[in-house]
Amino acid sequence: MRRPKGPIPPSPALPDRIDWRELFGRAADLHLEIGSGHGGFALAFAAARPDCDLVAVEWRKKFADWTRARAAAAGLKNLVVLGADARVELPRLLGPESLAAIHLHFPDPWWKRRHQKRRIVDDATAALWRSWLRPGGLLDVRTDVLERAVDMLEVLERAGFSNEAGAGRFSARPADEIPSTREKRYLASGDPVFRLRLRR
Ligand SMILES: C[S@@+](CC[C@H](N)C(=O)[O-])C[C@H]1O[C@@H](n2cnc3c(N)ncnc32)[C@H](O)[C@@H]1O
Repeated sequence: MRRPKGPIPPSPALPDRIDWRELFGRAADLHLEIGSGHGGFALAFAAARPDCDLVAVEWRKKFADWTRARAAAAGLKNLVVLGADARVELPRLLGPESLAAIHLHFPDPWWKRRHQKRRIVDDATAALWRSWLRPGGLLDVRTDVLERAVDMLEVLERAGFSNEAGAGRFSARPADEIPSTREKRYLASGDPVFRLRLRR
């Protein structure tokens, strides 16, 4: 990844509320990416979909600052990157039926029993995410870990999401899918990626 020219700006402090339409200066379809990492998906999505706005959330501030700097260098006005814990900050920043899509790509598997509570998908988050999506809105989940894919599918279907592929099934890779930084590695190596494409 090339370093953007000039100093990387610090993460802005998060306000108590954000009016996304005011922030982006328009009323476009709003997408959310949780755990954007090095920003491969966020930057490519913002460039490929100028008709949409994307909020990317990444708790490792260094990665968030890096992605924000690259977005600024590329002149992408439809991408906002928050350096924040999605579980803590998002509930106050998003309202019901405010999102067209949520993207969650390769969430940390947190294998150890004592770390399980850090896993991002549980019954409470599933219900919250469903409430943020407008009717028909997309939840786009990708993982390389079969066990986690099965767990997440069970939790999300239990929360009332409907599965594009049919209950209990993974989806095929859509032709127009934009890969995340990590996904590019698996596409090159041929390792499997399990996809959940669920609708509110
Ligand atoms: C395995 S990486 C995948 C990154 C990226 N989605 C990709 O596919 O290349 C998971 C990312 O989620 C971030 N993350 C984990 N829990 C998070 C949380 N609660 N809030 C925000 N980011 C989180 C991690 O810091 C890490 O960058």
